Amino acid sequence: MTEVVKIDPSHLSDDAARSVIERAGAVLRHGGLVAFPTETVYGLGGNAFDAEASARIYAAKGRPSDNPLIVHIARMEDLDLVASQIPPAAQVLAEHFWPGPLTMILKKQPDVPAATTGGLDTVAVRFPSHPVAQALILAAGGFVAAPSANVSGRPSPTKASHCIEDLTGRVNMIIDGGEVGIGVESSIIDLTGERPMILRPGYVTEEMLAGVLGEVRTDPAILADAAEPPEKDAQHAGLRPKAPGMRYRHYAPKGHMTMVEGEAAAVVRYINAEAEKQLAEGRRVAALVSEETAASYDPRIRLHIVGSREDPASVARVLFDVLRQCDAENMEEIWSERFGEGGLYRAINNRLEKACGHRIVRIQDED
Ligand code: TXA
Ligand code: MG
Repeated sequence: MTEVVKIDPSHLSDDAARSVIERAGAVLRHGGLVAFPTETVYGLGGNAFDAEASARIYAAKGRPSDNPLIVHIARMEDLDLVASQIPPAAQVLAEHFWPGPLTMILKKQPDVPAATTGGLDTVAVRFPSHPVAQALILAAGGFVAAPSANVSGRPSPTKASHCIEDLTGRVNMIIDGGEVGIGVESSIIDLTGERPMILRPGYVTEEMLAGVLGEVRTDPAILADAAEPPEKDAQHAGLRPKAPGMRYRHYAPKGHMTMVEGEAAAVVRYINAEAEKQLAEGRRVAALVSEETAASYDPRIRLHIVGSREDPASVARVLFDVLRQCDAENMEEIWSERFGEGGLYRAINNRLEKACGHRIVRIQDED
């Protein structure tokens, strides 16, 4: 049985909210599973120090157990109980970006179960800023292991209805705290090597990290992944992403999805022309487009205006919901613009590239 409870993040001191958090904390302390909102995406939580709870998380998600979980904390001083070495860079990053959408990979304390870290001797740690997440973590005793609360392979959940869709019957409780603010998962930075390395681009951008640490590198496997055609993925090119989760097929809608890159007007022309043929064959066609270009599309295409090109945060916020809507509406052909480059667009493009299985059309300049 999965209980769904609503909670208003801005009224956490109300009696009703406190009793929900208290109950959910007890579920976690007793080895159960609770889906809960964070500022990035919803998480599927279990007690991080309970190997059986971690095993239940893998089972509920249908996730391979070599793909480690992120341990969520809600007090700075708890970091020492999870990580055995805190290099100066971790200290600095925590001061700048915690609580918030940044996950750090550090050497793990021996007490953190191998089941939680997928057998690695490192651990991913994050101190989320969402008030419901913080209250729940504290009520659970301080340490909540949580992957994104989706069934493995689907887009991460950005609202409770997505968790209900994926996890009903698989978890004890789903806390509905409304829509998340960010919409893409946390940035992951590995601090166990010689130099800091970004393993997953997220809301805390490369530019922001470099501003604090000086130069940072990005896992070459992620960049290679982006450059390779689908039949020649990163693994075959001899590069394996350091974050195990980045190796797996992810986010893909059921329909056939393609991203189109190039000058905006040329992209619109290309998508209209391809969609025309597909519509003529009676296929169901959707497109992820920007506010700036929406008016130029063939009105027979099911258009999803995901936001403004000038405002990547607006795109990030709705991206996963739109991919899920394409599934709900049985879209067979899905087109997406490439909305921008750099900054938060690194995270957005990384998720879009995975969603379309690296099927990307690049339109050359016409002169
Ligand atoms: O925003 C987020 O990070 C969300 C919310 C719930 O906090 N969580 C999330 O977790 O996205 P998940 O499990 O979906 O993604 C965690 C990623 C995976 O790609 C995993 O392989 C990687 O982090 N990871 C975890 N521990 C690691 C480790 N010790 N070394 C390298 N990568 C690790
Ligand atoms: Mg995930």
